[in-house]
Amino acid sequence: MKILFLCHSFNSLSQRLFTELAAQGHEVSVEFDINDAVALEAVDLFEPDIVVAPFLKRAIPRAIWESRICLVVHPGPVGDGGPSALDWALLNGEAEWGVTVLQADSALDAGPVWAERRFAMRDATKSSLYRHEVSEAAAEAVLEAIAKIGAGRTPQTLDTLRVTPVWRNGAKQTDRAIDWHNDDTDTVLRKIASADGMPGVKDVLFGENVYLFDTHRADGFAGDPGDVIARSGSAFARATRDGAVWIGHVRKGRDKALKLPATTVFRAEAESLPEFPGYADIRYEEEGYAGFLHFGFYNGAMGTEACQRLLGAWQEALKRPTKAIVLMGGPDHWSNGLNLNLIEAAESPADESWANINAMDDLAEAIIRTTDRFVVSAVGGNAGAGGVFLARAADAVWLRRGAVLNPYYKDMGNLYGSEFWTYLLPRHAGAENAERIAAARLPMGAEEALSLGLADEIIHAGREGFGETVRDMALRLAESTDLDERLREKARRRAQDEAEKPLARYRDEELQRMRRNFYGFDPSYHVARYNFVHKVPKSRTPITIARHRENTARTRSRRRAAS
Ligand code: COA
Repeated sequence: MKILFLCHSFNSLSQRLFTELAAQGHEVSVEFDINDAVALEAVDLFEPDIVVAPFLKRAIPRAIWESRICLVVHPGPVGDGGPSALDWALLNGEAEWGVTVLQADSALDAGPVWAERRFAMRDATKSSLYRHEVSEAAAEAVLEAIAKIGAGRTPQTLDTLRVTPVWRNGAKQTDRAIDWHNDDTDTVLRKIASADGMPGVKDVLFGENVYLFDTHRADGFAGDPGDVIARSGSAFARATRDGAVWIGHVRKGRDKALKLPATTVFRAEAESLPEFPGYADIRYEEEGYAGFLHFGFYNGAMGTEACQRLLGAWQEALKRPTKAIVLMGGPDHWSNGLNLNLIEAAESPADESWANINAMDDLAEAIIRTTDRFVVSAVGGNAGAGGVFLARAADAVWLRRGAVLNPYYKDMGNLYGSEFWTYLLPRHAGAENAERIAAARLPMGAEEALSLGLADEIIHAGREGFGETVRDMALRLAESTDLDERLREKARRRAQDEAEKPLARYRDEELQRMRRNFYGFDPSYHVARYNFVHKVPKSRTPITIARHRENTARTRSRRRAAS
């Protein structure tokens, strides 16, 4: 089928559905919901069989839903309606939630139902639930709806389902406001989770208006409710009525302020607080002859200092008597490469970019140069840009079916990229696939990643099952009788590669191009980064995903060339 996505932005759920439908052979094109006229034009150009709205903030124009079936993906169970479905599910402490695929009509979120999936809620942030439970449920429900449409079936109205629609308005700051004297730890965590990643919970910290994110229970800490009592890494511990929470990230309540590590925003205040262990974004565990290195950096962003700490943890892990080391990343994001927020906030973004990419390359190089251990990247969360190539620095990439990769840098102002991708891609994917990967700018699902050599194994498991499966596979690998032989072969191959072209040369060549991106006359990278971190809405859909506009774009560029 020809399927047009009409969406507010090409967010994680839209990307996931895009990869699922493309893998089934559907022709999918994307148009951002900028205004009615643009949406209508997209429908005229593409003439889709159906329209899918995975993430939309406005109603679909009547002329569109009257002309063809439009499927709306709503992150709530049948009958639920409104723009803050998941926020309310968290705020109200729902035990079970769902995703409904309904047909757009004049009643917002109350059209006929094509499919529904339910899932158990979990103690997690809104964005984590969205990236896992909601995405899994939505992928299944959309595929079911499309199969039903293909089979000529009809949807069920809420009346036939005997469901009375419930509309809930958008959640406001007053709905989530924290009363530090009366709220217990669970309530504080739930309120912040309901607003994490966006918009955060409005509060006051050290006398300044802020938005709070990235909170975790601070076990063993207590104090006067509301007081900041300790720090750990980049987080502050703040006392609640019955304990304390770690606050890892904050955004000052000013225009253009960025979401940053809490102790970066309040550096001076942090210095006067006692430092304790407790908030750990890097964690190492071991079982048998396998080591597991977890690095759940917020949003998968790996700043200079995070890369250096991870390199330190890697070097420590190498001192252990293991045979295999698994790089686990974080559960929601494996890695999204350089920390663009910290770069933007730095006094010299160019210098910070340079420091960050060098720290990232030091880490990638240490992984590539490890020849006495079998290294696996277990990618359960999504990965983007340099994060994908960092994963490829391992000997094997085990990818969760359902994880989405965005293996390109170009969307960040034509950034050339480093992390030894010019060595790793041809080595693991072959020259032809390497070129295809480097030229593409589309999200990639697990099957495609496997076929192109970006992954070696697909793990068919959900969020929880993934960890267990990886553990079992790693233990089997570490105990396999042919592992010593494989490691000898690995060392031989590395030496041969080094003799053909030293890693240092790959690094130098890549970094020369990066230096131009950071310090050259073309400011594209700095502009793209500014727009990304400040979430400047796109004024039109990138041609890479708006395939229905390819001809128009070609005609325009021919006309420009002729004039
Ligand atoms: N640095 C800082 N923050 C990052 C980040 C990075 N490299 N990558 C993602 N984020 C943040 C986003 O700003 C967003 O923040 P929020 O919590 O305030 O909403 C959050 O992570 C989720 O990212 P989002 O872009 O909404 O996720 P997505 O699933 O829609 O898209 C990507 C995934 C990878 C396509 C997209 O995040 C991206 O392009 N990231 C930048 C990758 C990059 O260019 N890295 C630098 C070069 S190595």
